[in-house]
Amino acid sequence: MTSDKNNRTNNQKLIDWVEEMSALTKPDNIVWCDGSADEYDQLCAKMVEAGTLTPLNPKIRPGSFLANSDPDDVARVEDRTFICSKSEKDAGPTNNWIDPVKMKKTMKELFHGSMAGRTLYIIPFSMGPLGSHIAHIGVQLTDSPYVAVSMRVMTRMGQAALDVLGSDGDFVPCMHSVGAPLTKGKKDVSWPNSKTKYIVHYPEERSIWSYGSGYGGNALLGKKCFSLRIASVMARDEGWLAEHMLILGLESPKGKKTYVAAAFPSACGKTNLAMLIPPEGFEGWKVSTIGDDIAWIKPGKDGRLYAINPEAGYFGVVPGTSMKTNPSAMTMMKSNTIFTNVALTDDGDVWWEGHDEKAPNHLIDWKGNDWTPDSNELAAHPNARFTCATSQCPTVDPAWDNPAGVPISAFIFGGRLSHTFPLVYESLNWDHGVYMAATMGSEATAAAVNQAAIRRDPMAMLPFCGYNMADYWSHWIRLGQSLKHPPKIFRVNWFRKNNNGNFTWPGFGENMRVLKWIFDRVNDKKDAAESPFGYMPKYKDINWSGLESFTSDTFEEIMDIDCEAGKKEVEELKAYFATFEDRLPAEIENQRIAFSKRLNEAPEIWRINS
Ligand code: GTP
Ligand code: SPV
Ligand code: MN
Repeated sequence: MTSDKNNRTNNQKLIDWVEEMSALTKPDNIVWCDGSADEYDQLCAKMVEAGTLTPLNPKIRPGSFLANSDPDDVARVEDRTFICSKSEKDAGPTNNWIDPVKMKKTMKELFHGSMAGRTLYIIPFSMGPLGSHIAHIGVQLTDSPYVAVSMRVMTRMGQAALDVLGSDGDFVPCMHSVGAPLTKGKKDVSWPNSKTKYIVHYPEERSIWSYGSGYGGNALLGKKCFSLRIASVMARDEGWLAEHMLILGLESPKGKKTYVAAAFPSACGKTNLAMLIPPEGFEGWKVSTIGDDIAWIKPGKDGRLYAINPEAGYFGVVPGTSMKTNPSAMTMMKSNTIFTNVALTDDGDVWWEGHDEKAPNHLIDWKGNDWTPDSNELAAHPNARFTCATSQCPTVDPAWDNPAGVPISAFIFGGRLSHTFPLVYESLNWDHGVYMAATMGSEATAAAVNQAAIRRDPMAMLPFCGYNMADYWSHWIRLGQSLKHPPKIFRVNWFRKNNNGNFTWPGFGENMRVLKWIFDRVNDKKDAAESPFGYMPKYKDINWSGLESFTSDTFEEIMDIDCEAGKKEVEELKAYFATFEDRLPAEIENQRIAFSKRLNEAPEIWRINS
């Protein structure tokens, strides 16, 4: 850590920006982060002293900490997130928009003196392997040491990123303040933040201003703000894709390796799928992990798409994680992990709902209160997270840091849907696949306040697309048409429920059975039925070895298609598409009409096994 810029960079754009921003925010100190382990340890020690971090028992969880946030600062704030393009139409009907000139004025007023009494950390970072042609550099300025240490885990952070930036390289400026100035000896709190929150993006100038929150996607600006909202705009302009996708490798016992990328809305199973352990019946198969949240995907000279994970760590949901649901994540977070908003045990370990071990007799819950199994409150917040380096992932793919990326053979899209949508189906062609992804729906999660129970979440990008969603669909259609070898496109749904309200599909590791069918389809095995939705596996096309109890009758329950419900969906989509007015690509509406025709020609219930 140093305050001497001269040892760090001679990038004049960066030096000028830091000067301008520090004059605006008026911090007491300025620190250029070098990304070293020493710096990380010092910052953690400082936060322990301030009460932001609680060190966990080093015998049980070495190198790990617990952070409990302010109960008002526990998730992304979608209603406070803005895309400030020059024209409102370019932000589109799914984004909040405020005129950029007006918003800049608001931001400057809020940031004026906002870092008083605090330290300004300068955090240079690379999203993607250092120097990769798919990677990009950002620099975050923040007054939060929690953000500084998290950025070291989540990105390639520090001097190495400055070296890549060089003297005239370009970077995305990411301005952040928790919005809690310590004026005139005001005492600090363990989780400073502000009631006023703004997460603001300027797509034309490719910059980010985030105010008032210290939490995850609001504050670690390399993640959603840069890697999705700003990067989606860069991708549109430059002919690539920035997606809310995990990337995993599937290797057959014969050594054939296929990479797939999968988009699920927040808290719908990306981390779980990315780290899947194949179940009984899949001896010799391997699943390996490139990333669990974001994919940057660029066309290669050979007409295929190549993907990198721009991140270097995971910020994953903790509740529900157990040796049953995600043993790899359990292993990963055994050490060197920052937990946010879980419960503390009496022996200095952490606990959360859905942990294998039964609840201890006493805990300190995420709000800092005593907790017993009789408590009416949750011990951990449902959006509690772990922050952990990719290198700790036991299933990490050897190519995870490869600057060239990995070739993508399939895109998978999946929402959380209790009804109608089958376990898996494949698109009839590229445009149909884009339609399937664009019309994806899901039942609501933590960051979406005041939302209806089911919301449309196109490509799982509803909160993350930095421009007009309909233009984004056009971009997808055009990009696919330009590829010699476009990936196949699939929809999956692990969440169909039976009449008793329970999930019919066992999910988690058993999702391997679906991945294997996708692997077969991608590698030119032709076994599939054609339904009004698309191509689907028959019972015989899935490997049931080790799960013989899942009968063909139960399979029908999650594969049969209620065409009447399908027709209702088609009508709802008509109204939904109308909100995009003249920006809606003709291909998407044509797909809707074709889908409607297929449904009208089908029986009321289309049966997989008939
Ligand atoms: P973000 O990090 O928020 O983008 O989300 P994510 O998609 O990585 O979410 P994550 O993998 O952490 O999802 C966790 C939630 O999905 C938990 O509630 C899990 O229980 C649930 N989940 C994951 N896989 C399955 C599955 O196969 N079946 C069922 N029923 N639930 C699942
Ligand atoms: C998500 O909400 O999709 C996340 C968590 O991955 S956060 O980084 O907080 O946005
Ligand atoms: Mn996410």
